Amino acid sequence: MNAVTVRVPAKVNVQLAVGGRRPDGFHDLASVFLAVGLYDRVTATAAGELRVTAEGRDVAGIPLDGSNLAVRAAVALAARHGIEPKVRLHIEKDIPVAGGMAGGSADAAGALLACDALWGLGSSRDELLALCAELGSDVPFSLLGGAALGVGRGEVLTGLEVGGAFHWVFAVADAGLSTPAVYAECDRLRRAAGGGDSVSDVPEPVVDPALVAALRDGDPYALAGVLANDLQAAAVSLRPGLAATLASGREAGALASLVSGSGPTCAFLAPDADSAGKIAATLGGGARVAPSPAPGATLLP
Ligand code: C5P
Repeated sequence: MNAVTVRVPAKVNVQLAVGGRRPDGFHDLASVFLAVGLYDRVTATAAGELRVTAEGRDVAGIPLDGSNLAVRAAVALAARHGIEPKVRLHIEKDIPVAGGMAGGSADAAGALLACDALWGLGSSRDELLALCAELGSDVPFSLLGGAALGVGRGEVLTGLEVGGAFHWVFAVADAGLSTPAVYAECDRLRRAAGGGDSVSDVPEPVVDPALVAALRDGDPYALAGVLANDLQAAAVSLRPGLAATLASGREAGALASLVSGSGPTCAFLAPDADSAGKIAATLGGGARVAPSPAPGATLLP
């Protein structure tokens, strides 16, 4: 085998409960991830040295050096096995860059799976998940897909049952938001409101049982009533125009809207697939339709 392609989904957090800032700078989370059908593809090809290229949406925003998360994934996997990371990685981008949909994490999970197959390493899923967690808080979920509760900094996953399809529309912003900046703004808003921002000041984040039930029942109306993102106020504070975007989705017929992860992508939950298409057409401006749940990182034949 001298080339392997892996397809990896984007995610939306249908609940993102953010606890206080920990001594290590991360925040404890109760994060309910749902994988959605927007995909990046990562192809790993045998090569004399490590190289990364990218094509597709917003590729100008992707670093093509050692800071690229897919490159870091290949380097980490090779180091774990004491081999040289001799591979060309090619990323076909369709997930918004810096959009709060785990696009970079998807590429890392894709590169891990693709390199593992290319190099014939046969790593177990648990070994790959452990490497994913070292690479970033959202990377394990990109590998797993489906729906899952993430605790810790989001990397400790328990799969959740999803009883039917949920249909989404995503309004993708022209410019991304930095995840650390959004968490820092969340902390600043907490301090400005008179509360502290550390783990001793903020209640422990907990998953909403009604949200788990809505997913299990495949009920978009119930899910619409319980969507929640503690980073939303911070994202809107940094990008005030998002308030109007969130309202426009509801006016176009969405059951509910929320910022996806740390934003700035806005997610609109539709009652069904037809309505999702109509909402996207009403919103215009490149709004994207995607069903969920979507499978995790998958080797393509
Ligand atoms: O884990 P990842 O590298 O994706 O995190 C990026 C940044 O997002 C972290 O450096 C941190 O600022 C913030 N973050 C956080 N708490 C989390 C996850 C991410 O504060 N649970």
